[in-house]
Amino acid sequence: MTFTNMVLIGVALFAIVGAIGAFTVAFRRSRADAPAPDPTAGVSEETRRSDRSMEGVRVEPLPEPEPVSEPQPAEVEVEVEAEPSQELAPAGGSVQVIERQRVIEVTPEESGVTRRQFFNRALSGTFFAFLGLVGINSLAFMWPKLSGGFGTDVDAGTVADIQNQTVAADGSIVPVFVPEARAYVVPSPVVPESMEGDGVEAAGLMALFQRCVHLGCRVPWCATSQGFECPCHGSKYSSIGEYFAGPAPRNLDRFVVEVQSDRFIIKTGTVIQTPRSQLLSVSYPRGPSCIGG
Ligand code: FES
Repeated sequence: MTFTNMVLIGVALFAIVGAIGAFTVAFRRSRADAPAPDPTAGVSEETRRSDRSMEGVRVEPLPEPEPVSEPQPAEVEVEVEAEPSQELAPAGGSVQVIERQRVIEVTPEESGVTRRQFFNRALSGTFFAFLGLVGINSLAFMWPKLSGGFGTDVDAGTVADIQNQTVAADGSIVPVFVPEARAYVVPSPVVPESMEGDGVEAAGLMALFQRCVHLGCRVPWCATSQGFECPCHGSKYSSIGEYFAGPAPRNLDRFVVEVQSDRFIIKTGTVIQTPRSQLLSVSYPRGPSCIGG
């Protein structure tokens, strides 16, 4: 993993941690901003009814509770003056009946979440879930491909197989195209001086990038001339990709290659560019051109 990739991954992780922190702060603020709890919450409906229907209700507050370390629900005793009872009253008189009811104040946690709090939390949760998905997708996009596909080390097959395929029975060259690497593997009887030390040759083979260095057309192989000829603007290259003719500014680009356990590996993560060859290292053209000119 390169230093750049590690930095990108670090930035993405930092963003995710920041989003989680922001969510936590917003969540705590929403709790702090919540309206004060209704002191009558938890009072039974029967009590409320009797409270509304009766006149002369007298509330005797209980003495202030002793401070305790843990917040305890406050209890208030309410004395409700009921209708004078005729049944219990002595003849010619009446008896005053007082019902004692206990009102317990509950904390916001005990009374549950208000509708406003619920919508705030749902909205915040949706937003941060969306943010998390975007972050994960970004991370997946930036995560380097470690194996397989263009940009990685591509296994083109065994060296023996490729060597056999690239030279026909009559001695002519038949490049092996490796789609995953977007490259032609060609025999390289010599390594041009300008390419020495770049690691572009292994086991007598080279891997040429299929893209024309002029404007990017795919360059096909021409069996009759034994070279690569671009149909777009007529650039021509030898069998090992040396510049021969046309507007191309340099030789065909190529990749670093190596042999690992008898397998030919094309390292497509690095493209090697070389200047136009002054003299061709291999014979070209060996027959009629495919595009004329
Ligand atoms: S793109 Fe190949 S010659 Fe222009």
